[in-house]
Amino acid sequence: MTADRASLVPLLRAVGLTRRFGGLTAVDAVDVDLEVGEVHAVIGTNGAGKSTLINMLSGEMPASAGQIQFAGRDITHWPQAQRARAGVGRSYQRTTIFPSFSVLENCRLAAQAAHPRAWALWEAADRCPQSLRAAHEALEATGLEDDAHRIAGSMSHGGKRQLEIAMCLATRPRVLLLDEPLAGMGAEETDRMLALLDQLKVEHAVMLVEHDMDAVFRVADRITVMVNGQVIASDLPEQVRSNRDVQIAYLGTEQ
Ligand SMILES: Nc1ncnc2c1ncn2[C@@H]1O[C@H](COP(=O)(O)OP(=O)(O)OP(=O)(O)O)[C@@H](O)[C@H]1O
Ligand SMILES: [Mg+2]
Repeated sequence: MTADRASLVPLLRAVGLTRRFGGLTAVDAVDVDLEVGEVHAVIGTNGAGKSTLINMLSGEMPASAGQIQFAGRDITHWPQAQRARAGVGRSYQRTTIFPSFSVLENCRLAAQAAHPRAWALWEAADRCPQSLRAAHEALEATGLEDDAHRIAGSMSHGGKRQLEIAMCLATRPRVLLLDEPLAGMGAEETDRMLALLDQLKVEHAVMLVEHDMDAVFRVADRITVMVNGQVIASDLPEQVRSNRDVQIAYLGTEQ
């Protein structure tokens, strides 16, 4: 870590974050920092603990040990809803849209769920102007405005993944925790998503969990490598690419 990075408070910071499932330590004393302006990729083999890490950061799963700070505040014990309201947003490894609702309605419901007024969740969209505005802004940011009135289930796979990012943006997050947003995408859809991430990082701190190494090295400003729950490297992409431990454990490119 360089001196100027160390002097800044990161937007989201995990220190010694650990999750045990019985005898298995799925995430083992992980330190990770997310900053606005950076795409921080987290890579690692299946079962390395990447989704569990996101689940703890988003508040879906309590940590067994360690601490999470958001903008300098200790949020380790905050429930997910409180973190979402504060600005911690996430997307899921498996698609989580409402397929029979329109693209716009999906975003509006996501906005309302994150900033609920108890009586308002199912009211008509035109009677909830704040959520509707957030939904439209999210569609604009993701380039989905023309699809606003399409039924979500009729979108292409790539379109659905983009919609999930839009649903996350509709909650007005400052941190985006994205779990394999590129999974199953073709080359063109991947290009579009990477361009979107590049754009989103300007105003957000982005964590990208991803298996597509080509995409990771194209978009990441920093890469953390996990093996069996532990971080074996966390550095700039070129340093990670040439790290011998990483090559042996994960990239499979040792020469
Ligand atoms: N709710 C749970 N109960 C018990 N074990 C779990 C639970 N969730 C995850 N695990 C285990 O924790 C380990 C890490 O899982 P996790 O889903 O975080 O991995 P991952 O890095 O996201 O993998 P993938 O790349 O396949 O998505 C795995 O061994 C998994 O079986
Ligand atoms: Mg996973």
